[in-house]
Amino acid sequence: MAETYRVGLLGHGTVGAAFAELLGERADEIVPITGLRPEISAVLTRSRGTFEEVLESADLIVELIGGIEPARSYVLRAMQAGRHVVSANKQLLSQHGEELWACARENGVQLRFEGAVAGVVPVIRVLQESLAASRVERIHGIVNGTTNYILTEMAARGLSYAQALGQAQELGYAEADPTDDVTGRDAAAKMAILARLAFSTPVHLDQVVYEGIEHLTADDMEYAKELGLGLKLIGTAERVDGGISVRVHPAFLYAAHPLASVHGPFNAVTVESDAITEVTLSGPGAGGPQTATAVLGDVISAMIPPASTPETTAALTVVNDVESAFYLHMEVADRPGVLAQVAELLGMQGASIRSVVQKGLGEHARLVLILHPLLESRFYAGVHLIGQLDFIRSAPRAIRVIDEEFT
Ligand SMILES: NC(=O)c1ccc[n+]([C@@H]2O[C@H](COP(=O)([O-])OP(=O)(O)OC[C@H]3O[C@@H](n4cnc5c(N)ncnc54)[C@H](OP(=O)(O)O)[C@@H]3O)[C@@H](O)[C@H]2O)c1
Repeated sequence: MAETYRVGLLGHGTVGAAFAELLGERADEIVPITGLRPEISAVLTRSRGTFEEVLESADLIVELIGGIEPARSYVLRAMQAGRHVVSANKQLLSQHGEELWACARENGVQLRFEGAVAGVVPVIRVLQESLAASRVERIHGIVNGTTNYILTEMAARGLSYAQALGQAQELGYAEADPTDDVTGRDAAAKMAILARLAFSTPVHLDQVVYEGIEHLTADDMEYAKELGLGLKLIGTAERVDGGISVRVHPAFLYAAHPLASVHGPFNAVTVESDAITEVTLSGPGAGGPQTATAVLGDVISAMIPPASTPETTAALTVVNDVESAFYLHMEVADRPGVLAQVAELLGMQGASIRSVVQKGLGEHARLVLILHPLLESRFYAGVHLIGQLDFIRSAPRAIRVIDEEFT
């Protein structure tokens, strides 16, 4: 009879309840892998148990409460008491990661968090272990299933943003308050964690520049289709000029990019480095049972040492002005010379045009350009000048384009 491994559970909501159920189902299969039988020893919710009881009765603590406090204090106290901790809490790790990892190292325990980024997609383990030998240059991620679902529906069915959001809420892909998802903040927290691991440098959520999808229109999708582009909410973490840039914003992708074919509520992460060229991982991004699988995977890993707690080995500067290709959408008066003037102002900023779509709409015309990469500050300086020209009928709209294709 295998010895019992006692798992203390903080939180019994969507993920916590699914985790408890999965652990019960899988306990027999875990015995041959670890030599131990995991068992939930105590549970804490708002109406059940105390933290002290859970701590005292456990060899390992699983934190599935979410948010900052009391989750942060509980995780710190558990590690100070010598317990390994598994958490799926991206907000906590992206804002207090350094404090938590330092505490794990000082106390010789493991802090595992696969479920915090991209649900069941095993990107944390791949970055920390499988790809530990490569120098990561760039990560692109679709790390929020809600927004990917909304954008997929807008593109496939011509729905407006509001219609697609309503549908996502009906199907349970979006919460009643979708703010964190649609503003890009949820994805920013996940990209902060990925950047921290990829570049071994501290990255706080506050350093991630993010922009959401609320302002996107079905019209943008239509033009993009003509140009062979698909629109996604993309997180990027990359080395730039001796520093790093970490950001989240809507971006167009050419069809050959590995993330272009990630549809619906799925997540995917592309890791690039010179040695490996590109590795893409994809799968379901969230949901109780899916995230519970990642959490239980972490528990099993913690039951088999050795520990791996990321150390800071670099102090890279976070750079915000980076190069990007752009999609620029303008409503203009339909008269000769408009394209030439726009091209001249953009050219003064060093921008060059990759493709153009122009459509007449009576007295107005719609002009959509794709530009080759240039510094964002120079692009927006050009757009500001264009916005002041007398033939412009509404404020120009800009969306970044990821100008990369892998073959
Ligand atoms: N849901 C997903 O698909 C998903 C995916 C990836 C990661 N995550 C992460 O997983 C974590 C849990 O998410 P969830 O969706 O399972 O949340 P949830 O359904 O809201 O469950 C939260 C649980 O924590 C308990 N709790 C809240 N505040 C507490 C407090 N002050 N003291 C003690 N217990 C407290 C709640 O107690 P009551 O039962 O008494 O309310 C509930 O059992 C979060 O960090 C989230 O970001 C979730």
